[in-house]
Amino acid sequence: MKTLDVNTGAPYKIYIEHGILDEAGKYVREVSGALRAVIISDSNVAPFYAGRVESSLKKEGFETSVFVFEAGEERKRLSTIEKMYMHFFDHNITRTDIVVALGGGVTGDMAGFAAASYLRGIDFVQIPTSLLSQVDSSVGGKTGVDLPGGKNLVGAFWQPRVVLIDPDTLDTLPAGLYEDGMGEVIKYGCIKSRSLFELLEKENARDITDEIICRSVAIKRDVVSEDERESGLRAILNFGHTFGHALEKLHGYSGLTHGEAVGIGALMLTEITEAKGITEKGVSERIRALLEKNNMPTGDSFTLEEIIGATRGDKKTAGNDLKFVFLKDIGDCYIHKLPTNSMMDFFGV
Ligand SMILES: NC(=O)c1ccc[n+]([C@@H]2O[C@H](COP(=O)([O-])OP(=O)(O)OC[C@H]3O[C@@H](n4cnc5c(N)ncnc54)[C@H](O)[C@@H]3O)[C@@H](O)[C@H]2O)c1
Ligand SMILES: [Zn+2]
Repeated sequence: MKTLDVNTGAPYKIYIEHGILDEAGKYVREVSGALRAVIISDSNVAPFYAGRVESSLKKEGFETSVFVFEAGEERKRLSTIEKMYMHFFDHNITRTDIVVALGGGVTGDMAGFAAASYLRGIDFVQIPTSLLSQVDSSVGGKTGVDLPGGKNLVGAFWQPRVVLIDPDTLDTLPAGLYEDGMGEVIKYGCIKSRSLFELLEKENARDITDEIICRSVAIKRDVVSEDERESGLRAILNFGHTFGHALEKLHGYSGLTHGEAVGIGALMLTEITEAKGITEKGVSERIRALLEKNNMPTGDSFTLEEIIGATRGDKKTAGNDLKFVFLKDIGDCYIHKLPTNSMMDFFGV
C-alpha cells in the first residue's frame, strides 16, 4: 500500500493498492459519515467493477445506488449532469451524502462536477480506473464538462475527499488506452523528474506500472498542492499540451488520442527549443526514443504552421499570451509566455 497526502485547502489522501476496490467502503467511511452513497460509472466500467464497490460500501452501512451513463467523451455534457441531479433527487441525496466516481477521466470529471454543484456541494471520492485518470485527472480537483464549442469549458475546482487507485483495474483497459496514459507519464518525467524519465528509458512500462502510478501521482500532487487554482506553477502540467490540443482539434478529436497528441506536441516543441539553444542538445532525441519504445507516434501529417494556426481561437486563452512550457533539460522546465501575435515569428513559420 502506498499512501500520499495532498495538502490542498481541504487536504485528502491518495491510496494506491492492488484490490483496494473491495475495501472501498472502509476508506470512504473514514472520510464520511454519510447515510447514502451514489456510485457514478459508465457503461464499460460499471459491469466490471460497480458490483464490487457497491458491496464494499454496503458492508460499511451505506445505502447505495448506481448511476450509469453511456461511455464516451460525447456524454461529458450538461445533459448527463442533469440526469445525475435527477438521480440524486430521486434517491434523496442530502448535503451529508457522498458521490463515488468509478471510472476514467470522463466519469471523474462529471461526477466531481455534479457533486460540486448539487445542493451547492456534496462530498465525492475518486476511484479512477484508466491509466490517464490514475496518473492525472483524479488528483487536483478539476471537474467539469464540455460544451459543443470546446472541451472542459464549464466546471469547478472541487477536491475529492479521498482517491483510491487499484492498478488491477488496468487489466480490463481496452487496447491503446495504456499508451494514452503514458503520454502524461512521459510528460511528468520531462517537466519534473529526470529519474522517472530514466526509469522509463531503462524498463518496460508495463513491468513497473505501480511505480509509474506512484511517481506520477506524487508529481501531480506536488504541483497542485503548491498551486491549487492554477495561478502559476500548475501551468507546467501543460507541457506538450498547447500543440497537443491543436493536433487533437485538427484531427477532429478522433484518430489521435490525447496522450498521443501530447507526446507529439512535446517532441515537436522540444525539437524547436533545442534548435534555438533553449533546451540541452539530445533531449528531443531521448523523448522521441521513449515515445517509440512505448508504441506512440512521433510525428503527424499536419505542418507546424497549421498546428500554430489551430492554437488560435482557443476560448480559454483568446486575447491572452499563450503560456508555453519549455524544457531546459530532462526534468527541468519553465513557463514562457508568448503573445499570440508573435507566435509565428518565434517558431519561424
Ligand atoms: N480533471 C482533470 O484534471 C483532467 C486531466 C486530464 C484529463 N481529464 C479528462 O479526462 C478525460 C479522459 O480520461 P479517460 O481517458 O480516462 O476517459 P474515459 O473516462 O472516457 O475512459 C476511456 C475509455 O476507457 C473505458 N475504461 C476506463 N477504465 C476502464 C477499465 N478499467 N476497464 C475497461 N474500460 C475502461 C471507459 O469506459 C472509456 O470508454 C477527458 O475528458 C479529459 O478532459 C481531466
Ligand atoms: Zn493531458
